[in-house]
Amino acid sequence: MMGLGYIGLPTAALIASKKLNVTGVDISHRVVNTINEGKIHIVEPDLDGLVHHVVKQGYLQASTKPIAADVYLIAVPTPFKENHMPDLSFVESAVKSIITTLQKGALVILESTSPVGTTHKIQEIIFKERPDLKGEIYIAYCPERVLPGNVIYELEQNDRVIGGIDEASTEKAVWFYKHFVKGELHKTNSQTAEMCKLVENSSRDVQIAFANELSMICDKANIDVWKLIRLANKHPRVNILQPGTGVGGHCIAVDPWFIVSEFPEESKIIRSAREINNYKTEWVIEKVKNAALQFKIDNGRGAVISCMGLAFKPNIDDLRESPALHVAEQLQKDGFNVLFIEPNLNKYPKYNLTSLNDVREKTDIIVFLVAHKEFMAMEIDGNIKILDFCGVRNQSQN
Ligand SMILES: NC(=O)c1ccc[n+]([C@@H]2O[C@H](COP(=O)([O-])OP(=O)(O)OC[C@H]3O[C@@H](n4cnc5c(N)ncnc54)[C@H](O)[C@@H]3O)[C@@H](O)[C@H]2O)c1
Repeated sequence: MMGLGYIGLPTAALIASKKLNVTGVDISHRVVNTINEGKIHIVEPDLDGLVHHVVKQGYLQASTKPIAADVYLIAVPTPFKENHMPDLSFVESAVKSIITTLQKGALVILESTSPVGTTHKIQEIIFKERPDLKGEIYIAYCPERVLPGNVIYELEQNDRVIGGIDEASTEKAVWFYKHFVKGELHKTNSQTAEMCKLVENSSRDVQIAFANELSMICDKANIDVWKLIRLANKHPRVNILQPGTGVGGHCIAVDPWFIVSEFPEESKIIRSAREINNYKTEWVIEKVKNAALQFKIDNGRGAVISCMGLAFKPNIDDLRESPALHVAEQLQKDGFNVLFIEPNLNKYPKYNLTSLNDVREKTDIIVFLVAHKEFMAMEIDGNIKILDFCGVRNQSQN
């Protein structure tokens, strides 16, 4: 298993729990040492017990160097660089590091979210250095769809899409996943499997953008968007999602760019959705600033603004690419007096977190950015201005 992060480590541990020998490879010595001690370096329920068990039993060991194996899985990062172009350098270096260890009959599977054609690029990289392996190894793509926080369950239970560079590769990869996946395994080719992952997340992004665009239109039209959506969704074939502060995390906010960068002419809705969801966050910042300036005019002093929720979605502590965090940080950077509230975190090194109890006494403007459950029933004095960008104060009527 190349890469022992949020995807690679649980996958390696699950495979090892089926009594298959797994070597987990990571470039980080810290990660490798932690795992070899039977401990974990990421937050994921039930993962620590599983890793401890399989390391102790000897089925999982970590190393900074790959060894010769029957099956190679690659789950390294695939971020984007300037101009939203995919950065495949981690995948390329992981592939290069296994080339000398490859033997006839080996199966190489890419799991990292990747632009269409990446699996074929892997094939080119391998055969350039090892022409002796042409027609002798299997290469496939199998994207990951797990939800952080529920990874162990979903790794086993979710359906998977598996696409080889040829039919033999698809069949070999399906045979391998049957060892540990209970969900259905759907066969296709590598390009379709690559596109499938990108399309799943782009589809979510487009639907969220529709809701976010509606929220800005309704603000101008003086219509309550939450009530509007509730009413529209009474139609038997309409299902509008909830608007929010923007779109964050490391998947939905990233993957659509892999389509846009490769198909710039054709991907008009997908690009617009990305832009709308990013713009929504800036729009929220402007709205808060306007409310703060009005407060200053009315009261002759600057407002204390409570930013409620910093995570990228409700009821988690994950701040990666979080639009809510961006709003709070930007307001503070621009000189506003901001309190940071995140009930899912005990502390955050960069800022002092304010507890929910303290918010009521200290605040002039409360800005709801993430629909955490703690915020729903919170009592708020009538003289405090409320800006609700995630509908958390409307949810009880849903
Ligand atoms: N985390 C998720 O929820 C999720 C869901 C679906 C898909 N994905 C995709 O899975 C892939 C991996 O994501 P992640 O969240 O596990 O990333 P991560 O950053 O948590 O872990 C990646 C690991 O790979 C290691 N690494 C980097 N280069 C390496 C190399 N050359 N050899 C060996 N190890 C190397 C890093 O040190 C790191 O520990 C990405 O493409 C991501 O888009 C992630």
